[in-house]
Amino acid sequence: MVLSLDRWVGKVAVVTGASSGIGAAIVEFLVDNGIIVAGLARRSELVEEKAKQLSGKPGKLHAIKADITKEEDILNAFKWIEENLGHVHILINNAGVAKENFLRNGETADWKQTFDVNVMGLCIATREAIKIMSANNINGHIIHINSVVGHKVVPFPGINVYIASKYAVTALTETLRQELNAIDSKIKTTSISPGLVTSEMTILNTEFSEDRKNVLKSMPILKAEDIAEAVGYVLSTAENVQINELTITPVGEKI
Ligand SMILES: NC(=O)c1ccc[n+]([C@@H]2O[C@H](COP(=O)([O-])OP(=O)(O)OC[C@H]3O[C@@H](n4cnc5c(N)ncnc54)[C@H](OP(=O)(O)O)[C@@H]3O)[C@@H](O)[C@H]2O)c1
Repeated sequence: MVLSLDRWVGKVAVVTGASSGIGAAIVEFLVDNGIIVAGLARRSELVEEKAKQLSGKPGKLHAIKADITKEEDILNAFKWIEENLGHVHILINNAGVAKENFLRNGETADWKQTFDVNVMGLCIATREAIKIMSANNINGHIIHINSVVGHKVVPFPGINVYIASKYAVTALTETLRQELNAIDSKIKTTSISPGLVTSEMTILNTEFSEDRKNVLKSMPILKAEDIAEAVGYVLSTAENVQINELTITPVGEKI
């Protein structure tokens, strides 16, 4: 079988966290492949800049300013997309935060933000996308950008609540699959779990100490584009094929 994205050409994809890193790479990949993309982020000016760079490509990128911790922003974004771009066929829940702190003395606000972005934002966006897909008989695809730490607690200090939030994403992927199966829905669900990837969450993080960055720099690392290609792969499978989980690590990753 030759994998193809043809059935998604001209269709609408929503990508959360489109302003940097993995989200920005996914957006570019989708637009390169003829898909109409709504890119959500607080820093929508970065998405707008990317949209300009991508003009002339087969698809099109639209920037939407949204704070995924605010339900109203998510609802307004989906309303605008429905009214201006058309029915959502693909949702990529990519927005994420990883605050460096410890359970013994960390900030409650950081923990809440981590869960609000990584878990609650994902739940709300998923619900809104499924409502649209179901109402319009769309066999769409929901993809969660999870993490290897959503499956294994790694001995990397300071990301405790982040790990818990990604375990929640693993559980929510399976819950959603079971829920959709129970109603005979043909909407696909996939968790993509990367290992270490170059982004503002890792070696480009300006808030990290040099020591921490040096530890990260000594480890094998993926490019954001590697994850975008993985998104392309799961989207390109035949309509009867669902990849439930795709774990991608750089060759040689030790954790
Ligand atoms: N980098 C890695 O090693 C790695 C490994 C495994 C999994 N992941 C996952 O990959 C995903 C993308 O992360 P990344 O590595 O690409 O990091 P990144 O460059 O820091 O990107 C995070 C994205 O999330 C968005 N975001 C954060 N808080 C938000 C909020 N309140 N409202 C809306 N958007 C928000 C950011 O946009 P704004 O700041 O503009 O709002 C940004 O676009 C995350 O889910 C992360 O957990 C990353």
